[in-house]
Amino acid sequence: MAANPVSSSPVAYTDDAVRGFALAAVLWGVVGMLVGVVIAAQLTWPELNFGISWLSYGRLRPLHTNAVIFAFGGCALFATSYHVVQRTCQTPLFLPWLAKFTFWGWQLVIVAAAISLPMGYTQGKEYAELEWPIDILIAVVWVSYAIVFFGTIGIRKVRHIYVANWFFGAFIIAVALLHIVNSAALPAGAMKSYSAYAGVQDAMVQWWYGHNAVGFFLTAGFLGMMYYYIPKQAERPVYSYRLSIVHFWALIFTYMWAGPHHLHYTALPDWAQSVGMLFSLVLLAPSWGGMINGVMTLSGAWHKLRDDPILKFLIVALSFYGMSTFEGPMMSIKTVNALSHYTDWTVGHVHSGALGWVGLISMGSLYHLIPRMYGRTSMYSTKAIEVHFWIATLGIVLYIAAMWIAGVMQGLMWRAVNPDGTLVYTFVESVKATFPFYVIRLAGGLLYLAGMGVMAWNVVMTVRGQSRSVAYVPQLVRA
Ligand code: HEM
Ligand code: HEM
Repeated sequence: MAANPVSSSPVAYTDDAVRGFALAAVLWGVVGMLVGVVIAAQLTWPELNFGISWLSYGRLRPLHTNAVIFAFGGCALFATSYHVVQRTCQTPLFLPWLAKFTFWGWQLVIVAAAISLPMGYTQGKEYAELEWPIDILIAVVWVSYAIVFFGTIGIRKVRHIYVANWFFGAFIIAVALLHIVNSAALPAGAMKSYSAYAGVQDAMVQWWYGHNAVGFFLTAGFLGMMYYYIPKQAERPVYSYRLSIVHFWALIFTYMWAGPHHLHYTALPDWAQSVGMLFSLVLLAPSWGGMINGVMTLSGAWHKLRDDPILKFLIVALSFYGMSTFEGPMMSIKTVNALSHYTDWTVGHVHSGALGWVGLISMGSLYHLIPRMYGRTSMYSTKAIEVHFWIATLGIVLYIAAMWIAGVMQGLMWRAVNPDGTLVYTFVESVKATFPFYVIRLAGGLLYLAGMGVMAWNVVMTVRGQSRSVAYVPQLVRA
């Protein structure tokens, strides 16, 4: 395997898998967001499924969630964790051939998902839809990933294990545990199975999984990115290393208990719902501690935000992280959830985290990583990064503002009653009232997708070796 051609370190890093995953993240980002735009359009104009079963909303929605979370987010996490663990441990990857296997294995999982979901094969568990043969493949790839990652830590040349690796490590262990427990099922055919759990236990296990998919897949791994790429891009040390350790332990301990907030007012025992709510409220503290630690890393270097679009991505991602981790605990309060649940408020919350936090931190990290992996001084066009940043941010604002307004409106319409106890509005009246907000969400989604298209073009030009903004060294611009 070739050593990194541009690294100034004497260590011969093994970056083939990093390059593969980075490019795959961009490709799957475009695909997953395109499907997101298609389903946003279908919610606005349902006839856009053209009567074709595999284009129906029910099949494309899980395709969207799987593509953006596991294909786009997953590939970005593989790329950055393999990159960071080598640099911070000063050693090449442990078993590079196994790292390559994880790359091809993960791509196979993605292709299998992209075929089986539109065909209608599903276990019916949100974010865990894939049928049992694909689940087994996921488990094999994930255990290989753990061997490569922890093996690399095992052969490290520095004593200390940098905090980013703690977050990546927790993400890898937790996802293995969640996936294996929640996917336990009895096969009843090549692509059909029944969950090992029944009734309310099934729901509890599913949302223990679902919430920790948020906590570990959509949060912990991306915090690993934050702790490496923000200090690197800003050329400043982490604001408080001590806080980063407290952040780590508090976050991973608390997340595990918050799942029941997805099951308020269900058959789940009331005390379990209250435990979920309590831990969700507590979760605000470590989440904000971590966010503040990331943002304050820019202390004394705030001016860099003006000239460096990559830093803009990374820091604005943190502000969305702060926003969604404030909103989440509020939504976990039972009385608030009575209004927000089943409405588009939840979808607004999801996408402030998904587009704002997960999307922007991944894009910023990939913009930092990709030129370095291909021996370039910078991305092909810095202007294009700036354009991407602004259209993505505008897209997010349109998306989440529309969903918040729509969600609160739906909740209020559904609970409005006349003095005689009958409903003021029929359900279809709330659907009609939501229409303009669905159009605005679609416009926001189109902008976000367009930004991803600009990124894909910039990445292709960078990889092909053309560098237009050669002199772009953000740290020196204002020196
Ligand atoms: C162009 C960008 C995107 C658009 C237009 C879009 C659109 C949508 C739409 C229309 C839904 C269905 C909402 C519903 O059922 O009412 C949805 C669901 C979802 N999307 Fe996106 N999406 C985009 C990007 C992303 C990204 C980047 C992520 C994650 C990293 C993401 C994660 C999710 C999740 C988790 C759900 C399920 C939400 C829930 O069950 O409440 N989306 N998206
Ligand atoms: C302190 C942190 C957070 C807390 C306490 C929290 C809490 C909540 C609550 C109460 C719900 C609504 C459940 C319902 O009514 O069904 C929810 C939904 C959701 N949240 Fe969060 N949230 C947090 C952070 C985040 C972040 C950062 C993301 C994304 C990156 C995220 C992604 C989601 C998703 C995908 C759902 C929808 C699940 C579904 O029904 O399919 N959350 N969250």
